[in-house]
Amino acid sequence: MTSPLRIAIAGLGTVGGGVLKALCERREQLAERADRRLEIVAVSARDRSKRRTVDISGIPWHGDAGALASCDADVVVELIGGEGGPALALIEAALASGKHVVTANKALLAHHGARLAAMAEAKGLALKFEAAAAGGIPIVKALRESLIAHGVRSVSGILNGTCNFILTDMEKTERSFAQVLKEAQALGYAEADPTLDVGGGDTAHKLALLASLAFGTAPDLAHMHVEGIENIAPEDIAYAREFGYRIKLLGVARRIGDGIEQRVQPAMVRANTPLGDVDGAFNAVAVDAGEAGPFFFEGRGAGEGPTASAVIADLVDIALGSFEPAFGKPAHRLVPLAPAAPALTSSAYYLRFDVLDIPGVVAEIAGHLAEAHVSIESMLQRGRNPGEPVSIVMITHDTPQIAVARALKVIATSDKVLGAPRMIPMETG
Ligand SMILES: NC(=O)c1ccc[n+]([C@@H]2O[C@H](COP(=O)([O-])OP(=O)(O)OC[C@H]3O[C@@H](n4cnc5c(N)ncnc54)[C@H](OP(=O)(O)O)[C@@H]3O)[C@@H](O)[C@H]2O)c1
Repeated sequence: MTSPLRIAIAGLGTVGGGVLKALCERREQLAERADRRLEIVAVSARDRSKRRTVDISGIPWHGDAGALASCDADVVVELIGGEGGPALALIEAALASGKHVVTANKALLAHHGARLAAMAEAKGLALKFEAAAAGGIPIVKALRESLIAHGVRSVSGILNGTCNFILTDMEKTERSFAQVLKEAQALGYAEADPTLDVGGGDTAHKLALLASLAFGTAPDLAHMHVEGIENIAPEDIAYAREFGYRIKLLGVARRIGDGIEQRVQPAMVRANTPLGDVDGAFNAVAVDAGEAGPFFFEGRGAGEGPTASAVIADLVDIALGSFEPAFGKPAHRLVPLAPAAPALTSSAYYLRFDVLDIPGVVAEIAGHLAEAHVSIESMLQRGRNPGEPVSIVMITHDTPQIAVARALKVIATSDKVLGAPRMIPMETG
């Protein structure tokens, strides 16, 4: 066996704790896979006295994570989190001092990934991040190394377990978003501040990485439409079921013409399809890889075991000297993402209008939609008690998004329409 791969780990929480545990418990097997020992030479976290998954008393401790950049490690594993701050400072310093880097930090990579990839490459170092998108699912490696022959047309998926858990529970229990979120927080499935998850930001970070790997562009959050699940009402979930759909928070990136559409938003996904059947905290990614065909990956996107699995796969690759440019292409060849022209992005849409139950209201809505060249495939109206508002639900044919948005803007100004109309794309692909 060659000399050990010396590893420094910053952050010993969910992911770091899992990595530490697997490196200790599966020491022999991993050494055989890597043909050298994987040796932890330094660790850092905030609180030295905290109980950890394994005994770390024999491992050199650094109160300052930045010090790992100058310790005698070959690889620094950044598992602190956060878009900048100590995590970014550590990665920059580690690369500057000639150390490979492994991270699970999607927020940081979505913002600084292209620059850090260039830094790593200039020094012949690895920057690896399998755990950063969809946790244990090996989608980063698949897009970076495997699905390259025919190019990727689209990559889409359920990338946030918290949102999928909430939507699945809302469906099962017919409760509101607020009620389910509160329970998810009490059970530890949702953060005390859930904004990044339920607002779509976390999915956006992961989608930016997947789009970059799929299309050879620099990660780009600026040209991404991002919506969360906060406004999904139990009625929408019930109507989706009636039409044979389920509501999922999807991240979708697809090539359209010369551009790329990137969006994060709740979408109607056909029930009893692989994507439509993804329940609870699971993640899934669907890839249309042209002539190679469609691929579907499903698994655990978070948690100690799945994320440690991904981080250790990266470490073993480094130990074997097997690493590609971070985003597949050499960093200087990553092109800026050209957003698809809005007129080219289209879908069928689910529309829900809460209206006053008075004559002429359907005709008025239909008239505005027709003016914008939005044609309706089906419509549903539920009667309520006289005088109470009613919901009108319409499913459109495939229509440019801007045409539907334009019509809804006009419809929202009607004094017969109560509140903002709901618009959810139907994912039929
Ligand atoms: N959790 C998941 O399932 C998951 C999945 C995919 C990706 N990720 C990503 O993995 C990263 C880590 O997430 P996590 O869930 O493991 O976080 P976590 O459980 O909150 O752990 C964070 C760790 O970082 C340490 N830390 C915080 N500030 C530090 C500092 N300034 N210097 C040194 N250490 C510091 C903490 O120390 P103490 O323990 O002493 O407080 C803790 O050990 C994040 O980028 C996250 O987005 C997480």
